[in-house]
Amino acid sequence: FDMTEQTPVTEEKSAKVPALPDAQTVTEVKHYTDRLFSFRCTRPSTLRFRSGEFVMIGLMGDVNPKTGKQKPLLRAYSIASPAWDDEMEFYSIKVQDGPLTSRLQHIKVGDEIILRPKPVGTLVHDALIPGKRIWFFATGTGFAPFASLLREPQTYEDYDEVIITHTCREVGELTYGRDLIESIRNDEMLAELMGEDFHKKIRYYPTTTREESAKMGRITDLIRSGELFEDLEIDPLNPESDRAMICGNLAFNLELKELLEDAGLEEGANSKPAQYVVEKAFLD
Ligand code: A2P
Repeated sequence: FDMTEQTPVTEEKSAKVPALPDAQTVTEVKHYTDRLFSFRCTRPSTLRFRSGEFVMIGLMGDVNPKTGKQKPLLRAYSIASPAWDDEMEFYSIKVQDGPLTSRLQHIKVGDEIILRPKPVGTLVHDALIPGKRIWFFATGTGFAPFASLLREPQTYEDYDEVIITHTCREVGELTYGRDLIESIRNDEMLAELMGEDFHKKIRYYPTTTREESAKMGRITDLIRSGELFEDLEIDPLNPESDRAMICGNLAFNLELKELLEDAGLEEGANSKPAQYVVEKAFLD
């Protein structure tokens, strides 16, 4: 007699539509400009990552008319939340005709996204040798991994000074970073862990290139002219004391890399820590 015949029909019929693979639930969405937003979601209980790493996230794609199947639409996103956070945070561009972000920008609290729990990346403390000052150089959404690292206690344990530069086209694009730094400066948990004066280590240097602000210009030009160091009243880059992480658009990464190399810093990796590391910010 055939066991399969005994399978209750109801169970098959009521079987739910399978949940998204690696689904996580959106818990918060904030829009900053028509080009930028951030969101938070639940964290997979098994996910361990190092502050500064990225993961693949996305949504289910449209049904392929030929196969009748749906494929996940995934992109690499820096995790903007620190390793200790219960939730995950991401900072994203909105590209109106971007395959993923044209849809991702409409997510709401309670929606599900896909998050592959396989973190990787080079913007991690393990890829740098000890130093005195750490520079975080960002453009646009390249701020994201630094939003993680600025909330990571190890950053303040390892360095006397933490200098974050953020270059954007317009003033409104600085909001996410500016608000975050403000909240870190008032963070009681970090103050308790690192000492009340930990926030004095943070030097924030925002610049804009296409809208009037207190500091105008590309950070690369401000380094070349020496204006950055004059403004901060510090010595220029030096391979003995300075460590750096770069995250922005490709042209920016390459230019800054060259400036660091000219100053005598060497590129590091997880397998061979050195004086600076680079990662390209996500673009849809
Ligand atoms: P700019 O307005 O002069 O192009 P994007 O939104 O295109 O990714 O750019 C983000 C910011 O990075 C902008 O302020 C832009 O300045 C700046 N930027 C673009 N390319 C470079 C580069 N090669 N070096 C330094 N900054 C750059």
